[in-house]
Formats: sequence, C-alpha cells, structure tokens
Amino acid sequence: MKIYEERRLKLTENLSGDIAVIIPGSVLANRSNDTAYPFRQDSNFYYLSGFNEPDSTLMIINKSGKTNSIGFVPKKDKLKEIWDGFRHGPEGMKSDFGFNDAFNNDEIDELLPDLLDGVSCVYYPFGKVEGFDQKVIKWTKKANSKDRHSKKMEIADISKVIGNKRLIKDSSEINIIEKACKISANAHLEAMKFVKPGMNEAEVEAFYLYEFAKNGGRFPAYNPIVASGENACVLHYVENNQVINDGDLLLVDAGCEYEMYASDITRTFPANGKFSDEQLQIYNIVLEAQKASVDAVRKGNGVMDPQTISEKVITEGLIDLGIIKGNLEEEHEKGSFKDFYMHKIGHWMGMDVHDVGDYMHEGEFIKFDEGMITTIEPGIYISSTSDVDDKWKGIGIRIEDDVLVTKDGNKNLTDTVPTDPAEIESLMQES
Ligand code: GLY
Ligand code: MN
Ligand code: MN
Repeated sequence: MKIYEERRLKLTENLSGDIAVIIPGSVLANRSNDTAYPFRQDSNFYYLSGFNEPDSTLMIINKSGKTNSIGFVPKKDKLKEIWDGFRHGPEGMKSDFGFNDAFNNDEIDELLPDLLDGVSCVYYPFGKVEGFDQKVIKWTKKANSKDRHSKKMEIADISKVIGNKRLIKDSSEINIIEKACKISANAHLEAMKFVKPGMNEAEVEAFYLYEFAKNGGRFPAYNPIVASGENACVLHYVENNQVINDGDLLLVDAGCEYEMYASDITRTFPANGKFSDEQLQIYNIVLEAQKASVDAVRKGNGVMDPQTISEKVITEGLIDLGIIKGNLEEEHEKGSFKDFYMHKIGHWMGMDVHDVGDYMHEGEFIKFDEGMITTIEPGIYISSTSDVDDKWKGIGIRIEDDVLVTKDGNKNLTDTVPTDPAEIESLMQES
C-alpha cells in the first residue's frame, strides 16, 4: 500500500495552492440484461489506490501542505456480499488501503462539497466519464455557495498530470510488466507449436487465452487479433472465426493483462510451418524495419525516430520488390508506403495497452527517457484490391515487441518469441 500512498503524495507535489483531486473508479458495464462484463478498475484510480471495487471515488486533498486521502466506496452489506462477494467498506478502505478517511459511496453528494471547504482548485479527469463532469460542477457549485464572499474555486484537468507520471514506470511497475510480457511471450511460443492448417482462428484465440489464464493473466489486455491470410490486412480484425488454410500466414496480436498491466505482442507465422518465397520476402522487410526501429528506442532519441526509420526501411524494401516504383527519398517524401503501412510504429504501454502520456510537449515530439515503455510494431499489408502483382496479394505481416528504455539503451521485454523466420520454422516443427 506504500506505493499507492507515495503516488498520491507525489501527485499533489507539483500542484500549487490548496487543492483537491477527485478520481472516479469504474462502474460495472452491462453486457446483456442483468449480466455484466468482467469488472476492470479505472487505471488512474487503481494507480493511486490499489482498490478494486466498482462504484468507488477517491479524493486527495492537499491543504496547507498536508495531504489527506478520502475514499467513497460500496458500503458493507451482508446480503450483497452473499451474492457478489466481499466488500472492504469504508473501514477496510482506511485500514487496508491507507486512506485517512472513507465513507459509503451513497454519501458522496452530501459530504463532498463540505470537504472542498478552503480548496482553491479542484482537479479531475475532464470529459472521461459520462455524467461525472456534471457531478463535479454540482459539488463545486454547492461548495462555492456556502461562502459567497471567498474566492471561487477553479476546476482543472488532472489527466495530463497523471498521464505523464504513468509514462515513467517505476521498478515495481517494470517488474509486473516484465511478468505480463513473459506470460504472453510464452503463449506465442506455445502457439507456434500448436497451430495447424484447418484449425479455426477461434481455436487459436482460445489457446492463447488458456495459456494466459494458466499463468496468471486471466484477461487479455485487448481483444486478440487472430487473422489468417488476407484477414491480416484488416488492422483491427477481431471476428477470429475463419478456418486457417494451408499456405496462409497467421497474424496473431495477443497479450495478457497481469495485475492491471498490459503486454502487447504480434507475431506472423506460416500455418503450415513453412514461409512461401513471397511471404518471406515481405516478412524480411518488416523484420528489418522492426529491428532497426527497436534499436532507435534509447534515451535522448526522439519518439518519432523509430517511425521515420521504419518508413524508410519499408519504402526501400517495397521499391526493391517493384511494389513501389520510384526512388527512396521521393517516395518516402510522398508517403507511398502508406498504401501498405498505414498505422504508426507504436504506442506507450503500461496499465492501458495504449497507455497514457504525452508524445509531444509544446509542439515538439518528446525524447525517450528511462522508464518509458513503447511498442514497436511495423507492418506491411497488401490486400487483394491493391494495385500490385497478384503474387503479393493477401499478405499481411506485423511484428510487435514491447521495449523498455533503460539508462544506456533498451530492453526488449518480448524478444523470447522468435522473429527470425528460420527459428520460427524450426520451432513449428516441435509440435
Ligand atoms: N494490440 C493493439 C495494438 O497493437 O496496438
Ligand atoms: Mn500495439
Ligand atoms: Mn498489438
């Protein structure tokens, strides 16, 4: 609990004056009639509390240099606990989570305005939770109306402040992310031995989820993409319900969530264990782009350096194969690679798979710094409607790793899954 307490203290350190921060937790989302989706706590809320019950709100008040944490949580209720399981209640929030004070969540409208007494600015995540903006306005209006003669309270957005804290991972976060990456990497390794032509994509998806859960990552960090053949050219393909044909490549983008932290890995491998010549030629371009881009993830380099490198390697490779016509500089300038490589090289990864944290500061792209984790995931996608020689059509390839920026370089957290085509082929013989 110390870690969360320290985070709450650190968050208010850079916010001047007497302030309050209010963070809503997640609510249960309905899936159909009275059944819910599995509960997932809001990442900011969890980052600052470690508390995993729905319908909760946390408040941090910093007045005259003293910080207090206050929770509003589901009340103890014997009957509800028989149906839905244990609740900590306000007392548990204090004793087990280090909060200074805690109340039942149904008391929030009554109590919160009074708690804002003497506060000059209220921070909360703007425009993120349906209905929450209105609640904050209501609470601050009520607080302001109590003393018409004092200075009115301001309202400010906290999302950027927390986002840029979360961007730099501390050692406890890195340990958890490494574990998430290890579980996912192992699932990819096992899947390469498991997959055979004739299987349905759904069966492979289930295999990954089983491997994740067996090793402690019960939920995927995002909906897995299990895309055979040309399905891989649909970037967010999630139907995962087609038969995998002999001769198809299989693109699997799947990563587990472990203790609230994501992992995000893509590998593309031949269903029958052997790349065709055309598949291999495209694969090797993506692999070269991926390796060169991973290499550029280091402290002091710009966050867009891997992007530019990947664009150039892919443009050059596609020119060599006659898929793009022209010379490298002109074609790169024109952006003709975008017909085949239409997404960006990667994104921050942490509690959210597409994690928070700025990419730009005052109009300029920021530089990599120690503790940041980014994915590196170039791809080439040639759909059957592309204006290219038929032999290239239907090939979709992406290779994705999760890369930690270290003091003097980087650590690829997912490189235990082979990317080398010969290694993949030999692993696939091991079934
Ligand atoms: N799996 C989502 C992504 O790669 O961004
Ligand atoms: Mn990704
Ligand atoms: Mn991915």
